Amino acid sequence: MKIAVVGTGYVGLVTGTCLAETGNNVICVDINEAKVKKMQDGQVPIYEPGLDLLFHRNIEQGRLHFTTNLAEAIEEAQIIFMALPTPPGGDGAADLSYILGAAKDISKIIKGYKIIVNKSTVPVGTADKVRAVFSENTDIEVDVVSNPEFLREGVAVEDFMKPDRVVLGTTSERVKKLMTELYGPYVRQGNPILFMDERSSELTKYAANSFLATKITFMNEVANLCELVGADVDAVRRGIGSDERIGKRFLFPGIGYGGSCFPKDVQALVMAADENTYDFQILKSVMEVNERQKTILVDKVLKYYKNDIAGKHFALWGLAFKPETDDIREAPALYIIDALVKNGATVTVFDPEGMDNVKNIIGDKVVFADNQYDALKNADALLIATEWSVFRNPDFEKIESILKNKVIFDGRNLYDLQKMIDLGYYYNSIGRKLID
Ligand code: UDX
Repeated sequence: MKIAVVGTGYVGLVTGTCLAETGNNVICVDINEAKVKKMQDGQVPIYEPGLDLLFHRNIEQGRLHFTTNLAEAIEEAQIIFMALPTPPGGDGAADLSYILGAAKDISKIIKGYKIIVNKSTVPVGTADKVRAVFSENTDIEVDVVSNPEFLREGVAVEDFMKPDRVVLGTTSERVKKLMTELYGPYVRQGNPILFMDERSSELTKYAANSFLATKITFMNEVANLCELVGADVDAVRRGIGSDERIGKRFLFPGIGYGGSCFPKDVQALVMAADENTYDFQILKSVMEVNERQKTILVDKVLKYYKNDIAGKHFALWGLAFKPETDDIREAPALYIIDALVKNGATVTVFDPEGMDNVKNIIGDKVVFADNQYDALKNADALLIATEWSVFRNPDFEKIESILKNKVIFDGRNLYDLQKMIDLGYYYNSIGRKLID
């Protein structure tokens, strides 16, 4: 099939590349000339495991193209995917100006029937708004479809190639037939393509992310309680996760959820509920608890140093909001740095992928180390904010020889408690016994 993807952000680029991989002819369009030039020259603008390979293969085989020219991109496309940002506006509600703006531009240049597929996370009712833009500007028939993405950063290619499900909001039989063909190769193992009305599809995305954010937040609260009652959250997690109704995944406590989706989507769903005079209480609590959880590691540090960390120096491993990404949006590490510095401490950080992004926003507020061990020089303690694999099995002898004191505050529960007892560390993690 001939496909155009409008917007080459993280979602657009993964979508375009993965759609090309099954033999479709895909042209991606973006207004950012420098970025398009880069991609035309064969450079992937984001770090996403597995994307590089598919990106180059499909460019070489002539199925993946990039342009800044919208008219050229959509001329032959049967299906136009819109993967545009929906950042929170001033009032916290999703800002639809990019999507409605693109819809307007497309509506003014199309010459024949098109299927317009919205991939962005949008409030309920957006498909109607997009449809209205088309009917205001053209007599040409279009079908507007909601098709939310469920891509996790770091495993986005895998999530696209083998989705748990594909959600499609459309009632048009013609669209259903074409989309079943398009997504068929991705659901060969029998995972469902779920057709529903557009509003339900739009809400599904917010409900899925908000549910997952709630699940994590619930576990974070259980973890905090574990510490107070002398229970071990790892045991409780296994105990409840074995119940299939609860499930084993997404039960890992930590220092709060971050990233570009959960914080924004939970907030947007609360706003949407408020607008409809519904008080979505549980999600309001989720937001509040998550804010608190982001600095729980610093609370532990302050308690250990009796509220006086002025002049102390800390090593921080991990900046990205989760491993296998360079994304630092809403990353708990940023809140930790801020709190440590505000209390008069200094910080040296290391992250395998996220350092450039952090440099761009906080500059010389912290020192950036070349590797995880260099970060430990002169540090009074080590803090861990992201569960990168390279932090999971470090050389503890080397840590001991560089770090001033054998003190670790671990926000991701990376180490076995018995091991830390044997090694003689002070080890403070989340929801588990304090080793001191
Ligand atoms: C999420 C959704 O999973 C995805 O379906 C959606 O399309 C976009 O948002 P992503 O933001 O990439 O994906 O990350 P995800 O792996 O879901 O993690 C989100 C946050 O939850 C991270 O901050 C992570 O550290 C945290 N988390 C996750 C936990 O604290 N504990 C867990 O058990 C799982």
